[in-house]
Amino acid sequence: MGMLNNLMGWVDERFPATETWEKHISKYYAPKNFNFMYFFGFIAMIVLVLQIVTGVWLAMSYKPDAAMAFGSVEYIMRDVDWGWLLRYMHSTGASAFFIVIYIHMFRGLIYGSYQRPRELLWIIGVVIYLAMMATAFMGYLLPWGQMSFWGAQVIVNLFSAVPFVGEELSVWIRGDFVISDTTLNRFFALHFLLPFILAALVFVHIVALHFVGSNNPEGIEIKKNKDENGIPKDGIAFFPYIVVKDMVAFIGFAFVFAAIMFYAPEMGGFFIEHPNFEPANPLKTPEHIAPVWYFTPFYAILRAVPPLFGSQFPGVLVMFGAIAVFFVLPWLDRSPVKSIRYKGPKYTASIIIFVISFVLLGYLGVVASSPILTLVAQVATVLYFGFFLFMPLYSSTKLSNGIISKLWSVGTLVLFVLLAYYWIAVIGLPVTASLIAAAILLVFHFFFATVPVFIRPVEAKPVPERITK
Ligand code: HEM
Repeated sequence: MGMLNNLMGWVDERFPATETWEKHISKYYAPKNFNFMYFFGFIAMIVLVLQIVTGVWLAMSYKPDAAMAFGSVEYIMRDVDWGWLLRYMHSTGASAFFIVIYIHMFRGLIYGSYQRPRELLWIIGVVIYLAMMATAFMGYLLPWGQMSFWGAQVIVNLFSAVPFVGEELSVWIRGDFVISDTTLNRFFALHFLLPFILAALVFVHIVALHFVGSNNPEGIEIKKNKDENGIPKDGIAFFPYIVVKDMVAFIGFAFVFAAIMFYAPEMGGFFIEHPNFEPANPLKTPEHIAPVWYFTPFYAILRAVPPLFGSQFPGVLVMFGAIAVFFVLPWLDRSPVKSIRYKGPKYTASIIIFVISFVLLGYLGVVASSPILTLVAQVATVLYFGFFLFMPLYSSTKLSNGIISKLWSVGTLVLFVLLAYYWIAVIGLPVTASLIAAAILLVFHFFFATVPVFIRPVEAKPVPERITK
């Protein structure tokens, strides 16, 4: 022990090891009322490490070559010692990562963790989410199966819809006029690089978190109530208390993860799509091309937006807008309280509708489209954006009846009516279906945009001073 203390003393004189440990771990105080929703940041870190480790090992046997890639993945599955395990850990890990992150983001939504003073922490999170999407997209090309090839083909082609520079942009991304060996090679290089950038972003995410401190299910700032030693009265030391809880969560997660990985790694074609067990064939388009499940809500939004003057660009814009809108979320919420527990029923209702429309869009992005399903996707897209774009109105505890709010409310109402007209008169959808869709949008509008502008909204409930007395 003495020797260890001496060694630590020697290190501490040259590097702030003990100081860092105390500041960020043993004397870092987190709110004592964390619930299970607070496990997922830690689990996301574990999954990131898992992806990096399994990915590096897979790369030792993988060949980023259009003639060999598919075969090399089969070789990993059949001949490399434990290769099947590495591959299924990595493919299950990719889907697990998105499940964990969607829950992590949902937690942020319901407890208002994006609100002041955590705006930047949230924004860094959204950048992480974008980097995750890019990483997953490039990784999916690597097995060089039918869906790898055609999925990449569809997505990269979207960039060619950008006015003026589109063609050049898509060629620049592919490095070729079609998805080819060159594309595979560069996607492999970037897929190897991005997770390390992700790790760096996660580091910055944690630095921001430790600077402002964690939010909690009550939305109370624990730093506001400190004892005579400067320790938050509602805080609890991160080590050992939170760490022990996180370990329990990790074991639970590991059970579920192992069950899926060993018994259902393809997850019925959701985690690894069936056509991806066939080698890429540029001459044979699969019957139905759909991205992996974690992209499908955005894919459904893309398909829901009709082309304008023959260009798909509006759809591409709206699809990217569906992600970009998360960046401005902290400034859309005007509620004086954070947690859903005190925000009142309107916010709860809006989150429920948002989640339903997100899941519905996810489903619609998987199945082949039809005119009626496109109508459903359009309604879900409007509800998705409605959650964000009406938020300044329905989250405010005051009557938002300024001129801008009134214009916004009346303008969006006109837009909804025009949409119903478009369904019935322009594209000739069945009148009953169109009217039902229009009715859903009008009720939504009335509750979330009309009422807060023209009628006094519900009050937020009073938030207690302390978590515990
Ligand atoms: C690789 C991905 C990510 C990792 C490893 C990660 C890690 C973490 C960890 C360890 C925490 C603290 C523990 C917890 O609150 O769960 C945290 C908190 C937080 N993260 Fe993330 N995160 C990731 C992605 C994201 C994304 C995509 C967002 C949002 C777009 C986000 C937003 C937040 C917010 C707002 C907090 C504070 C929550 C609160 O205090 O209530 N994170 N993150």
